Amino acid sequence: MPRTIYFDYNATTPLDPGVREAMLPFLDKVWGNPSSVHHVGRKARALLDEARDRAAKVLGAKPGEIVFTSGGTESNNLAIFGTARLLKSKGRHLITSSIEHHAVLHCFDYLEKKEGFEVTRLPVDAEGRVSPEDLDRAIRADTGLVSIMAANNEIGTLQPVAELGAICRERGIVFHTDAVQWFGKEPFEEIGRFSADLVSLCAHKFHGPKGAGLLFIRSPLHPDPVLFGGGHENERRAGTENLAGITGLVEALERFLKPPVFEKDKLTKLRLQLRSAIEEIEGAELVGSRWNGLSNTVSFVVQGTDSIALLAGLDMEGVCASSGSACSAGSLEPSHVIAAIGKKELANSLVRFSLGRESTMEEAAVACKALPKVVSRAQQAK
Ligand SMILES: Cc1ncc(COP(=O)(O)O)c(C=O)c1O
Repeated sequence: MPRTIYFDYNATTPLDPGVREAMLPFLDKVWGNPSSVHHVGRKARALLDEARDRAAKVLGAKPGEIVFTSGGTESNNLAIFGTARLLKSKGRHLITSSIEHHAVLHCFDYLEKKEGFEVTRLPVDAEGRVSPEDLDRAIRADTGLVSIMAANNEIGTLQPVAELGAICRERGIVFHTDAVQWFGKEPFEEIGRFSADLVSLCAHKFHGPKGAGLLFIRSPLHPDPVLFGGGHENERRAGTENLAGITGLVEALERFLKPPVFEKDKLTKLRLQLRSAIEEIEGAELVGSRWNGLSNTVSFVVQGTDSIALLAGLDMEGVCASSGSACSAGSLEPSHVIAAIGKKELANSLVRFSLGRESTMEEAAVACKALPKVVSRAQQAK
């Protein structure tokens, strides 16, 4: 069996040992329910409050602007359903882009099909960028919400989020950004940099635990809840808080956002190494943005084969890659992102390498060596 080369950090990252350590007391001694009035509960409540303060401090937000969730999917659902429903009397028009993660796109599909909203899906250019002019033109008097992601999970393209957010602010429209792939990879100072009213993030993309995330909600916005029950999270998200997950999330935020745990200089070198090798391969074509892309992400499409054959071939060489969003891997679903950048005919042949903290030049060299063989085998198998 060849050695494992994990090039799928956009899918998830290993839990950092220091983060794990910080979580352990919450799987053991600190087990109270923060809503209980007795001293066991009050201890948990104090630690929950402290975690919220710490998260707010890292993000440059107010503690009351943080809602802890079960991850990126839930944060996006709360932002989109919650705001669209809250503002439906203002208008039923919503705007997003054609290359969002399914945790955003499927919310809009549902609102359109089942709740009478009208959705504009902005196109992107060949690199996957939304144009601010297109957004400006698409906004109408009855627009309630705009949601555009900060960094694309499949091809790594970065959006001009601050510019898009500024347009929304000027026009008085609520702006959400799914920044799940952005945090830990791009330099971050404070949440104001997005000019957004709602920002989604999750811990497992930067060495925190799975099942833990947050939604930043700029005060005084108060989206309708999507989970009903107790009055947790200031009536915005019912359910007993997952203190172990929240502590892991906060610990990862403090450790890995400033500076970003994905080291740009190191990763840019590996990225270039992989990009050069891909450019040499007959029938392979890089996708995404050379200059406006995440430094850890290298994505390409291949003529005459499909992602499943390519990923299986890479796996046999020990290389863990992905066809884009992990949810559609294995199902041969063509990538809506590749279709949106104008390469519909190649949408079922996407391969994504996403590098991270443990990636090395040596690993990239092994992958570069294996690639031509893997591609040609996959093409012959067709
Ligand atoms: C851009 C983006 N949004 C949302 C999600 C969903 O996040 P989670 O896995 O925490 O539900 C992902 C996960 O891959 C993602 O890449």
